[in-house]
Amino acid sequence: MTTPTDRLVRPHLQGLQVYEPIEPPEVLAQRLGIPVERIVKLNGNENPYGPSPRVQAALRDYQSYHIYPDPFQRAIRDALASYTGLDASNIVAGSGCDELIDLLLRLTLAPGDEVIDCVPTFGMYAFGTRVCGGRYVPVPRDQAFQVDVKAVKAAITPRTKVIFVCSPNNPTGNLPPEAAVEELLKSGVLVVVDETYYEFSRHTFVPWIARHDNLVVLRSFSKWAGLASLRVGYGLMAPALAAYLMAIKPPYLSSAAQVALLASLEDKDTLLQRVDAIVRERERLFARLRQLPGMAPVPSAGNFLLCRVMGKPAAQVNQELVQRGIFIRYFDSGRLKEYLRITVGRPDQSDAVVSALQEILR
Ligand SMILES: Cc1ncc(COP(=O)(O)O)c(C=O)c1O
Repeated sequence: MTTPTDRLVRPHLQGLQVYEPIEPPEVLAQRLGIPVERIVKLNGNENPYGPSPRVQAALRDYQSYHIYPDPFQRAIRDALASYTGLDASNIVAGSGCDELIDLLLRLTLAPGDEVIDCVPTFGMYAFGTRVCGGRYVPVPRDQAFQVDVKAVKAAITPRTKVIFVCSPNNPTGNLPPEAAVEELLKSGVLVVVDETYYEFSRHTFVPWIARHDNLVVLRSFSKWAGLASLRVGYGLMAPALAAYLMAIKPPYLSSAAQVALLASLEDKDTLLQRVDAIVRERERLFARLRQLPGMAPVPSAGNFLLCRVMGKPAAQVNQELVQRGIFIRYFDSGRLKEYLRITVGRPDQSDAVVSALQEILR
């Protein structure tokens, strides 16, 4: 249905297929009519331990919230340079990895240019492409959810501007083989490797940036550092490309984001110990899910587990979990219709989801 407002809007944005974001716990609790403390929220790959205590203290003590922050991001680019082993000139920070995805697409796409995506994967690549008026080219992964390099190469045309490879992939949890990324880089197209879950996998393509000027690696502080709501992400790339991104970027990242980033890096050992605890919990949850009849978890290098559900529709299992106040992620599309994605939280949250599944699948 068209509305009088439509004439004001660019045609490709009318009826846009929107990204389905997750809702905060208060909204979920209100919808179910239960207290917020009873919500088990395992649908956003969030960190159950929150930010470092040093972040809370640094945010409280910061004195210059009334002054615009440094548009050149000097302090945070220097801190990220020592964290990543690259130079500050390789780095651009943004309001979450989401902003970097958006900036890269705005930098590279003219209307009708193509973006190749290896699906199923994170939904913001498709969304950002559509917002920029690009043509979205999904290439299905193989049976084991691995990037189908042959099919991706066959899909490349003179209008292909970006290939997204998520590593580890959300929601399937697997890492792309290095040979696959090497092969895609040879095409000369910009390859964006999204390492939002890097700290959980400890596998990175960052050292390749020195050899490939068509490689961008994206990272985030949302997951390992527990800063999801403060919006802190960054991209790593050749200095010339980073300079372009800095040039088109709205100038400021919030000071709260910057203060939180610096305090997190100062306390990275504590945060990485928490990451280790989440990885151990992932393996414990994997083993317990595998024992449940009708659940087949897929091995994961992230802080989440994708599980195939058999014997009952995954959508129904999801609904029955929601009725118990347990929120995990169900993707109502394509191959994922048979799966559920469970974020690895605290052990008591894993126990709650496993007991509920035991009842539901009985
Ligand atoms: C693969 C992937 N990339 C990017 C993001 C967004 O990260 P940020 O919170 O830094 O915007 C997410 C969030 O779930 C993700 O799963």
